[in-house]
Amino acid sequence: MPAHERVLALRVEIEEHNHRYYVLDAPLLSDAEYDRLFRELQALEAEHPELLSPDSPTQRVGAAPLPEFAALVHATPMLSLNNAFADEEVAAFDRRVHEWLAANGDLDYSAEPKFDGLAVSLTYQDGILLHGATRGDGTTGEDVTANLRTLRSIPLHLQGSGWPALLEVRGEVLLWRSDFERLNSRQREKGEKEFVNPRNAAAGSLRQLDPRITATRPLRFVAYGIGLAEGAGLPATHSELLDRLADWGFPVAATRRRVSGLAGLLGYYAEIGRQRASLPYDIDGVVYKLDDLAAQERLGFVSRAPRFAIAHKFPAEEVLTELLDISVQVGRTGALTPVARLAPVFVGGVTVTNATLHNEDEVRRKDIRIGDTVVVRRAGDVIPEIVRVQRDKRPAGAPEFSMPTSCPVCASKVVRNAEEAVARCSGGLYCPAQRKQALLHFASRRAMDIEGLGDKLVEQLVDSAIVRTPADLYRLGLLALANLERMADKSASNLLAAIEQSKQTTLPRFIYALGIRNVGEATARDLARHFGNLDRLLAADEADLLQVPDVGPIVAQCIRQFCSEPHNLEVIEQLRAAGVVWPDGEVLAPAGCASAGKVFVLTGTLPTLTRDAARQMIEAAGGKVSNSVSKKTDFVVAGGEAGSKLEKARTLGVTVIDEEQLLALLNLVQTTQ
Ligand code: IVH
Repeated sequence: MPAHERVLALRVEIEEHNHRYYVLDAPLLSDAEYDRLFRELQALEAEHPELLSPDSPTQRVGAAPLPEFAALVHATPMLSLNNAFADEEVAAFDRRVHEWLAANGDLDYSAEPKFDGLAVSLTYQDGILLHGATRGDGTTGEDVTANLRTLRSIPLHLQGSGWPALLEVRGEVLLWRSDFERLNSRQREKGEKEFVNPRNAAAGSLRQLDPRITATRPLRFVAYGIGLAEGAGLPATHSELLDRLADWGFPVAATRRRVSGLAGLLGYYAEIGRQRASLPYDIDGVVYKLDDLAAQERLGFVSRAPRFAIAHKFPAEEVLTELLDISVQVGRTGALTPVARLAPVFVGGVTVTNATLHNEDEVRRKDIRIGDTVVVRRAGDVIPEIVRVQRDKRPAGAPEFSMPTSCPVCASKVVRNAEEAVARCSGGLYCPAQRKQALLHFASRRAMDIEGLGDKLVEQLVDSAIVRTPADLYRLGLLALANLERMADKSASNLLAAIEQSKQTTLPRFIYALGIRNVGEATARDLARHFGNLDRLLAADEADLLQVPDVGPIVAQCIRQFCSEPHNLEVIEQLRAAGVVWPDGEVLAPAGCASAGKVFVLTGTLPTLTRDAARQMIEAAGGKVSNSVSKKTDFVVAGGEAGSKLEKARTLGVTVIDEEQLLALLNLVQTTQ
């Protein structure tokens, strides 16, 4: 057989075995037999380089390491799901769907497990894998194509026929539990750090800049839906769509089921709950989607989640442990937060040693005392919290908790406003804890963006009195830094370079970096836009400040307080004298940002912004606003009662976003400056 024919035959055969192994879970060959085919193909391709092709199974690990991931804008946004925990919430969901559709009788739903991995989007053009991205902020993700190509459960080209010319497949990347165990024992043998759970291991593996590393991690993909599909008819229901995805070569959940009515949904939940422990991968609930795709479209989305689907989550795992101590932390604005120090305990996939107790009232309400046996869970599966205490196990004489009356760091008086739940240290920047937090905030990525100035370093700089205020950072020299513990020459000069670079900034960043209470990024931007330069802001009185969109009396008062403090004005002067500069006037997005030069069309009534406000924000970010939708339109921002413009956008395939997505997009522009 001529080489080119043998190469083609081997490719088909190898992909077929990949599919049998990774998708159908029904391998025909032993690993050794598979390897033999693979090596034969590699040898032939090496001998005949003219036959090499990017979609050959040997080319899954073809790409060189990247310096960083490029951003990829999703053709349709990747949304999230609303959650239900109790049966009643599921019943309410089913009722709402009936009302919206004016439907009677049981509705059909497609039910699937909720995979606990990370969402990705795969784009196929004419059946060939073009690129793949992480979810990111839902609008823009990271281009991880080279890494996704190494997953053998992801077809490099679609099988079967009838696929759309342009197709976005949505699904989850995950690690099977058995593969996770193997990966961790390999890490142990190599003396490398183990991963805490399959989800983290999958996320870490997918976000490797070197695809050769990803290729050594046994990641899998499972498809649960589509984003965009152009150029071919789709089936009428979601369950048929999943069957179609399976025909095209994607793994889909074997446990998916079409169910009918509320009883069907709850029955499925119970059934999967029973199977949960014996499934090969972690799940954290199930997902119900209205099966009828046309009806899905009619229901649409609210905010960032579809109305036609809901995640029914399993209850968070709860475990018992001992409360060893309650320590009190001081935040940037002096707020004191009690933190529970716990005997280490494994819950919800990670080892937990601390849990926030929020504030004094919360500790009192739950009557939490040192020495207690406490029930711990991870709220929303992320932040550890104490659910309740086991009163019967309380050691005799355990005292009630009370907040210290003086700051545990600087001994200043602790004050608590009658109307606030928070107690605060009154030491301000005299308090080293507040000073450290203020410096970390000043240097943070969205503020002055000084890379390398982390908490360990700030700790040392403040404790050794080398740095007291942000202005001191700009006086740092190599000598002072080199004397610090664990500071190599290279990192010291890198840090100095980062500090130097941070001098070129923008007015919104600078205002945000000052750390004025209640002035977040968005308010800083509004202030910069309104006043145009810093001196006008510093001189503004309350009435001036109240003119700024979204600035109310409390925020205005915080700003006034900050600006009337001589110490703050002095630091600002020193920063300017040190060479910190920004362009005054309009807040302009540089070319190359997500929305610079993009064309937007506004239609319908937006929930909070007026047309004018939206227009100003878009223009300030470097975008253009046009009145009519055409092929040149990049985004249609649709609000309530959007009419023909929305329809036209859909016909032309223009991306439609809502107000929240618009704001996300514009924020993104600001933060990538
Ligand atoms: S559908 C428009 N189905 O859950 C709805 N999502 O909370 C899009 N997820 O980021 C999601 N299993 O990563 C869907 N069977 C499933 C899922 C699933 C896991 C994840 C997905 C998404 C998150 C939303």
